[in-house]
Amino acid sequence: MKIAFVGKGGSGKTTLSSLFVRHLAAHRVPVVAVDADINQHLGVALGLDEAEAAALPAMGAHLPLIKEYLRGTNPRIASAETMIKTTPPGAGSRLLRITEDNPVHEACARPVRLDGGEARLMVTGPFTEADLGVACYHSKVGAVEMYLNHLVDGREEFVVVDMTAGSDSFASGMFTRFDMTFLVAEPTRKGVAVYRQYKEYARDWGVSLRVVGNKVRGEDDLDFLRAEVGDDLLVTVGDSDWVRAMERGRHRPFTELEGAVREALRTMYETADASYELRDWERYTRQMVHFHLKNAESWGNARTGTDLAAQVDPSFVLGEFAPGGEPVPAPQPA
Ligand SMILES: Nc1ncnc2c1ncn2[C@@H]1O[C@H](COP(=O)(O)OP(=O)(O)OP(=O)(O)O)[C@@H](O)[C@H]1O
Ligand SMILES: [Mg+2]
Repeated sequence: MKIAFVGKGGSGKTTLSSLFVRHLAAHRVPVVAVDADINQHLGVALGLDEAEAAALPAMGAHLPLIKEYLRGTNPRIASAETMIKTTPPGAGSRLLRITEDNPVHEACARPVRLDGGEARLMVTGPFTEADLGVACYHSKVGAVEMYLNHLVDGREEFVVVDMTAGSDSFASGMFTRFDMTFLVAEPTRKGVAVYRQYKEYARDWGVSLRVVGNKVRGEDDLDFLRAEVGDDLLVTVGDSDWVRAMERGRHRPFTELEGAVREALRTMYETADASYELRDWERYTRQMVHFHLKNAESWGNARTGTDLAAQVDPSFVLGEFAPGGEPVPAPQPA
């Protein structure tokens, strides 16, 4: 299950993704947490200290390895250099499983111990001022897009991505890669403006979008969100002393998290889980091809000097079952 947390800067994306990851880990649900936000804070929110977080390998620094592994023996992808972030898998490509050990996880994922459970954490790597709006930024987030486009995930195993609700995810198609998108919104005009923009983009793509109201302090806040967001409002979370204690470096056991927040996390889990029924691998594949052709035309062909449309394998459909009906081999426990 691929889950995104998006929203305005400072709305609580990282906080809520980290709580959701902790909830999954506490229930022994396999989870890969991915920090794809401009401000890389997920590691610290999951309890790493600054030095541990800074020592995490960056996906953005392993692009050649990721591309080389994923293209496998796919004859349509001549070299790793011609693989761009939207290059779709085809016959011969290597697919990824959430729980398996593979070179991508070995290079980029690190285990994080959480109360009673464990998650694996991957980070895109810090963005510098120079990255924003240029190729590096795109390629760093592109590593995550490639990961998602080659992932055959089943029910009860999760990838949780903390990401910016920026125009970048709309240009590349990244926003269409998730079973469920949780848009974190504070009860403010700016918070709901980001929701409206996202909803507008999402409308034509069958994106499942639900709003998680955050820092909701009372009836007025709740009324505001209900009025602005309507039925898309899934749950609301108030100011959490547990979160504030963590911000002060005082880590309290997850079982001490406020009951209302735990209840919200349970609802989010159930909603994410239920979205499995809406899964449509054909549409998922069709959309990645669509965005690949769009990116190929707008910059990829020129950048690589090749016709990237030829990378599309017209008969390939990504899915939990390999083309031909053979089940994808079960993952080995990590
Ligand atoms: N429910 C909450 N209760 C208490 N504090 C919260 C809550 N949600 C978020 N915060 C605090 O608000 C601040 C911003 O939250 P967070 O870093 O999760 O937002 P973000 O959307 O990831 O921000 P950025 O855009 O900077 O990445 C943090 O200091 C966090 O601890
Ligand atoms: Mg953040």
